[in-house]
Amino acid sequence: MDFEALKQECLVCRRCGLCETRTNVVFGMGSPTAEVMFIGEGPGRNEDEQGLPFVGRSGKLLDQYLEAVDLSRDKNVFIGNIVKCRPPENRDPLPEEWDACLPWLREQFKFIRPKIVVCLGRIAAQRLIRPDFSVTKEHGQFEEKNGVLFTATLHPAALLRNPTQKPLAFADYVALREKILEVCDHTY
Ligand code: URA
Repeated sequence: MDFEALKQECLVCRRCGLCETRTNVVFGMGSPTAEVMFIGEGPGRNEDEQGLPFVGRSGKLLDQYLEAVDLSRDKNVFIGNIVKCRPPENRDPLPEEWDACLPWLREQFKFIRPKIVVCLGRIAAQRLIRPDFSVTKEHGQFEEKNGVLFTATLHPAALLRNPTQKPLAFADYVALREKILEVCDHTY
């Protein structure tokens, strides 16, 4: 199966109850050969309506950080989410919804084979790095798991709520740029 076939299968997923209330599955977007993947928590209202990740206010902020370090969702990164359908009223996904959805992310990892995974916010970091990961204390640090470098930064929605933390996040993107120059072949 190729990446497009995986996407088409995912777009009609009925593995959990969220398929009853979603408008669109948000598969993710970007380059299927990206060396860097950004992973958020799950779609909100705008993402559900458009079927694309990070397209609301927090997505605009994310795009600004990406642009500042010469990254772009249209060019050299892939942006996805742990859960691919919006829970009703933006409630937290249930454990069975996480579990039903995670295999899609695993398939995406298998195809893309990123060198660096950037978790956006606590939920993604605790799922993908460590259950006790503290974004406040450990953002911007890299840790290797099975040959892939994982890092986390503050979620752009949290930065909109708390703009004084924006310089901390900016430093993470600058550190990411350095790491990309060190370990990636074709991102820049
Ligand atoms: N927040 C997320 O975690 N993911 C999105 O796609 C949008 C907002």
